[in-house]
Amino acid sequence: GTAIHAVSLTETEYLSNTLIGVDEAGVITFVERSVASDEVDERLRSLGWVDQAAQLVRLQKGEFLMPGLIDTHTHAPQHLNLAFGQQFELLDWLDKVTFPAEAKFADPAYARRTYDEVVRRAISIGTTTCCWYGTIHPTTKILAAICHRQGQRAFVGKCNMDRNSAPYYQESSAQQSLADTEDYVSFVRSHCDSPSLASSTVSPVKRSSAPTALVQPILTPRFAISCTDEVMQGLSEMMDRDEHLPLQTHLSENPAEIEFALSLYPGIASYTAVYDRFRLLRRNTVLAHCVHMSDDELNLIKQHESGISHCADSNFNLRSGTARVAAMLDKGIKVGLGTDVSGGLSLGVLSSIRAASTASKTICFHERESRSSSLPNGTASSAPSADTVLSADGQSRPAGFFASKHLSLETLFYLATLGGAHVCSIEDRVGNFVVGKEFDAILVQTGQGEAREHAAPAQSEAASLEDEVEKALAGAATEEESEGPGNPALLVTPDEPIERVFEKFLFAGDDRNMGSVFVRGRIIGGARPLASA
Ligand code: GUN
Ligand code: FE
Repeated sequence: GTAIHAVSLTETEYLSNTLIGVDEAGVITFVERSVASDEVDERLRSLGWVDQAAQLVRLQKGEFLMPGLIDTHTHAPQHLNLAFGQQFELLDWLDKVTFPAEAKFADPAYARRTYDEVVRRAISIGTTTCCWYGTIHPTTKILAAICHRQGQRAFVGKCNMDRNSAPYYQESSAQQSLADTEDYVSFVRSHCDSPSLASSTVSPVKRSSAPTALVQPILTPRFAISCTDEVMQGLSEMMDRDEHLPLQTHLSENPAEIEFALSLYPGIASYTAVYDRFRLLRRNTVLAHCVHMSDDELNLIKQHESGISHCADSNFNLRSGTARVAAMLDKGIKVGLGTDVSGGLSLGVLSSIRAASTASKTICFHERESRSSSLPNGTASSAPSADTVLSADGQSRPAGFFASKHLSLETLFYLATLGGAHVCSIEDRVGNFVVGKEFDAILVQTGQGEAREHAAPAQSEAASLEDEVEKALAGAATEEESEGPGNPALLVTPDEPIERVFEKFLFAGDDRNMGSVFVRGRIIGGARPLASA
């Protein structure tokens, strides 16, 4: 069938009549393009795939495969307070809405019931890799265990919070915080291992000694305000001892937060410099938000090769601001998308794509307004530069390339998939359909099918208004007529080009259009999962 994936920040490939082979270990063994329907069997034989156990899935009209979505920042315990407290900005929202909700996760039974549903829902909306925050409690082990059980690829972190929080929701000391973290990391490493990839028939894209487990621990100092120097120093030393231990935190989300953080470090150059002081900016560090960043701060992040999780929906909802994603991309910084529930109001990375698009259009709009008011005749403020910059996808582009317009569909799709993989330092494993990577994918089902021919206006001459009104009154939709996946926005005609169907899916699709969700070749969810062999 058709497969669609991002190959760079600016290029989406639409592969038609493509045959993708996935072995028992879940690794992609071949991607054969333009194979006619009647040549499939012969091609499989020539590839040595005569194995009776192999299952061949032919996609139907209106179906396509895309890489699984990567949520680079979200909070599992906050799903229950989604939508509460919209009158607040960040610090009051944490104090009045979020900390009370997270405190309840001291109870293991409550944690298990809640996390089970939260992870299931995330999978159903296409999140194949997720960077989760838990709480300060050891019950975060339950969240990791549930991701492992349900088969989601995940980085799961127990929060460190040993100062400036609420009396009922704070760790008792730095030593306690660090000891609990060590215990948590070793639990996840020993209990959430998954079948090895050693049985794969192909060698991986890039040999690395990084852990192959789907579920991995991630250090999670909530933010500088809530962690003492001793905790940040201790976490840094844990990263020194274990180069594969990643870290996630919040950075520069809200003006009052920035002021508070800077007040704790008199004389420091910036909020970003606080994390740098403790050597927490590393290649496997994920920084959420980064809304109010100076060029010096972005340069510091670029220098250390840390990644940024752009959480546009949350930045709108908590009135935090609009992050300068184009500037980040123009500096060659790795960027992915984050839902940041419940700062963000919507589940799933499709919502993050839409919010990131709106955020970038808003910036363009304001820039155009400020240009036309400050410059005669709306003259462009900067001439195109001859300099080139190496982007995070490894390609050279003219300086200022991304800042020249709003984020394109191709860029948004990259951020949601391969960009997120880069931010999580797993771009050699997932993010697109490349031989040697693991098959994390969504089988998308739109309403583009034969049945829609009834809907094309040109064919409707025979039916009279009276007849159709009669049928409508009688509720006479026939079986064939109501065959779509139940999302009317995606009921498009069979002749609609795939590029347009895909754009429709990104901006109007939802979980009803996600038939099967795969991680490492296994179906872990979806609205109408394929029967497996
Ligand atoms: N900064 C510190 N904690 C949080 C949180 O839970 N959500 C958001 N959006 N920002 C934070
Ligand atoms: Fe967050």
